[in-house]
Amino acid sequence: MLSLARYCCALMLLPVAVLGLQADEPRNVWSAGGKHPVALASKTADSACSSCHSKIGQGKYVHTAMVMGCTTCHQVKNKKDGTQVVLVAPVTQLCLTCHPLSSDKVLHGPYKAGDCVVCHSPHASDYSYHMWASTQDTCLGCHASARLKVNQEKGTATVPWGVTLTSIQLKGNQFLGLNASLTANHPVEGHPVSGPNTALGPNAPPITCLSCHRPHSSNFANLLPKTPPDPSTPLCKTCSLCVDCHKNL
Ligand code: HEC
Ligand code: HEC
Ligand code: HEC
Ligand code: HEC
Ligand code: HEC
Ligand code: HEC
Ligand code: HEC
Repeated sequence: MLSLARYCCALMLLPVAVLGLQADEPRNVWSAGGKHPVALASKTADSACSSCHSKIGQGKYVHTAMVMGCTTCHQVKNKKDGTQVVLVAPVTQLCLTCHPLSSDKVLHGPYKAGDCVVCHSPHASDYSYHMWASTQDTCLGCHASARLKVNQEKGTATVPWGVTLTSIQLKGNQFLGLNASLTANHPVEGHPVSGPNTALGPNAPPITCLSCHRPHSSNFANLLPKTPPDPSTPLCKTCSLCVDCHKNL
C-alpha cells in the first residue's frame, strides 16, 4: 500500500548532488570554419558530398531534412588558403530555423540553449528520433554521476556517446541518487526508473524516464507531463501523474 506520508519523506531523504563544475569556459560550437581537407567548387552538388561522405546518412532513422540535401545546412566557402565547409547558421540556431522552440513554461536546459545535436544526430542513427543513444541512456548520460565523465581541470564533462560539454552547457545539472545498476531509487526510494511496469501489468509499456518526464519542455516543474492536482493535497504536487500507475495513491 502506498502512502502520501511515505512519498513525501522518501523524497526529502533522496540525495541529489549538483554537478561541481567551476570554470565558466566559452561554449564549444562546432565548425568555427576549419579547413575542409579536400578543395571543393563553391557550387558542389549534394550528390558529390555523399560520394565521399557515404556513411553519414546511414542508419535506421534518417533525419527528414537529409532529402533536402547537404547544402541545406552546410555551405562551401572558398578562400585564398583553401576550402572551408561551414554551417549556414550557428549550430545552436540551425535546428530552430525549422523546429521553433516550444512556448511551454519550463524548458529543459540543453533544449533551451539550442544544443539539439548534443542528443540528436543532425543526419542519421540507429536510435529513434536519430538520437546518439537510446532515450534512457541519453538521460542517464547527464543525470547519472557514473555515466558523465567530469574533467575538473578543464571544467568540461563528456557523455558516453562522446560529446563534450562545458560547465555553462551543464549549468544546474543534477545527479540522481540511483542504485548501482541505475534502475531505481527515483523519485522515491526503491522506485523503478526502468524495467517492466509491474504496477499496471504485463501489457503496459516498460518504465523509462519518459514515463514521467518530457525531454524538451512542459508547463510544470521538473518537466513533468501533468498538472499539480487539487490544492487540498499540497504535499503531493504530482499525484495526478502518480495515479496513472497507482490507482490507490
Ligand atoms: C573528395 C571527397 C570529399 C568531398 C566531395 C566532400 N568531402 Fe567533406 N570531407 C572529406 C574528408 C576526407 C574529410 C575529413 C574526414 C571526415 O571528417 O570525414 C571531410 C570533412 C568534412 C567535414 C568536417 C570537417 C570540416 O570542418 O570541414 C564536413 C562538415 C564536410 N566534410 C562536409 C562536406 C560537404 C557538405 C560536402 C559537399 C559540399 C563535402 N564535404 C564534400 C572528403 C570530401
Ligand atoms: C539538418 C542540417 C544538416 C544536414 C541536412 C546535413 N548536415 Fe552535416 N552537420 C550538421 C551539423 C549541425 C553538424 C555538426 C554536428 C555537431 O556539432 O555534432 C554537421 C556535421 C557534419 C560533418 C562533420 C561531423 C561528422 O559527423 O562527421 C560532416 C562530415 C557532415 N556534416 C556532412 C554532411 C553531408 C555529407 C550531408 C549531406 C549528405 C550533411 N552533412 C547534411 C547539419 C546537417
Ligand atoms: C531545413 C529544415 C530543417 C532543419 C534545418 C532541421 N530539420 Fe529536423 N526535420 C525537418 C523536417 C521537414 C522533419 C520531418 C517533419 C517533422 O517531424 O517535423 C524533421 C524532423 C526532425 C526530427 C523528428 C524525427 C522523427 O523521427 O520524427 C528530429 C528529432 C529533428 N528533425 C531534429 C533536428 C535537429 C537536431 C536539427 C538541427 C541539427 C534539425 N532537425 C534541423 C526539417 C529540418
Ligand atoms: C536532452 C536531450 C534532447 C535535446 C537537447 C533535444 N531533444 Fe529532441 N528529442 C529528445 C527525445 C528523447 C525525443 C523523443 C521523444 C519521445 O520519444 O517521445 C525527442 C524528439 C524530438 C522531435 C520529434 C518529436 C517532437 O517533439 O516533435 C523533434 C522534432 C526534436 N526532438 C527536435 C529537437 C530540437 C530542434 C532540439 C533543440 C532545440 C532538440 N530536439 C533537443 C531529446 C532531446
Ligand atoms: C515514476 C516517475 C518518474 C520517473 C520514472 C523518473 N522521474 Fe525524474 N522526477 C519525478 C518527479 C515526481 C520529480 C520531482 C521530484 C521532486 O519534486 O523532488 C522528478 C525530478 C527529476 C529531476 C530534478 C532533480 C530532482 O531529483 O528533483 C531530474 C533531473 C530527473 N527527475 C531526471 C529523471 C531521469 C533522468 C529519469 C530516468 C532515469 C527519471 N527522472 C525518471 C518522477 C520520475
Ligand atoms: C546534455 C546533458 C543532459 C541530458 C542528455 C539530459 N539532461 Fe536533463 N538537465 C540537464 C541540465 C543542464 C539541467 C538543468 C537545467 C534545467 O533546469 O533544465 C537538466 C534538468 C533536468 C530536469 C529538471 C528540470 C527542472 O524543472 O528543474 C529534469 C526533470 C531532467 N533534466 C530530465 C531529463 C530527462 C528525462 C532526460 C532524457 C530525455 C535528460 N534530462 C537528459 C542536462 C541534461
Ligand atoms: C509509469 C508508471 C508509474 C508512475 C507514473 C509512478 N509509479 Fe510508482 N511504481 C511503479 C512501479 C512499477 C513500482 C514497483 C512496485 C509496484 O509494482 O507497484 C512503483 C513503486 C512505487 C512505490 C513503492 C516503492 C518501493 O520501495 O517498493 C512508491 C512509494 C511509489 N511507486 C510512488 C510513486 C509516486 C509518488 C509517483 C508519482 C510521482 C509514482 N509512483 C509514479 C510505477 C509507476
